[in-house]
Amino acid sequence: MNWNPDEHYKNRAVAADYDASRFSSISGRVFNFLEKRTVAKCFSRLPKGSTIADAPCGTGRLAGVLLAAGYRVHGFDISEAMLDVARRRLDSYGESFTCEVADMKKHPPGGPMCDGALCARVLMHFPLDGQIEFLTGVANLSRSIVVINQSLDSGYQRFRRRLKRWLGNQPPAGFPISNGDIRLLLEKSGLREVGRHHLLPLVSEAVYIVAEKV
Ligand SMILES: C[S@@+](CC[C@H](N)C(=O)[O-])C[C@H]1O[C@@H](n2cnc3c(N)ncnc32)[C@H](O)[C@@H]1O
Repeated sequence: MNWNPDEHYKNRAVAADYDASRFSSISGRVFNFLEKRTVAKCFSRLPKGSTIADAPCGTGRLAGVLLAAGYRVHGFDISEAMLDVARRRLDSYGESFTCEVADMKKHPPGGPMCDGALCARVLMHFPLDGQIEFLTGVANLSRSIVVINQSLDSGYQRFRRRLKRWLGNQPPAGFPISNGDIRLLLEKSGLREVGRHHLLPLVSEAVYIVAEKV
């Protein structure tokens, strides 16, 4: 992929189209449903009323699940345009949802300010050193668990990805990750894996990992 994920989503048309372009097809809807259910499951150990950092928050798609489950959410994103969509979408949650613009790689906000953190659908856009930079910033926001999502790299998933490309489907993740590199990513970001959920192992490379601060 030769586009820059730090810039791409700043475009207002891209932000307005984000949810419809990814999650309105049948497969998109199924995946969206499974992803939301998995995110709720990953945070079930955190007491309701806890504050969760959602970085990157994007259009608030997953923040909405956490708010509906009774958490407070503070979103971070490099794109004001994406956050504007999130503010409109989550307006009914009042002060339970707040957000701010932040570059999680270059200028991450300091200090643990939330009880947990979510980092979804972004790490696979960066090479490993960028992933470590991003996730270190996210881990620093949390006092306990950090839930991340990545695209798993394995022989079977490489075959699937080639097939998808051949069928002309949505471009696969730019930087999927092996299990060895997941360990390295977590270790360098000050985290350790305590749980893992595959969304649809035979159909998707997406994996959600629950990690604790070391
Ligand atoms: C594919 S979207 C995912 C949004 C949301 N987590 C979701 O699952 O729907 C990726 C998001 O990462 C944000 N982003 C990219 N680079 C960033 C950075 N350096 N710091 C903070 N956010 C960033 C983009 O603006 C975009 O909103």
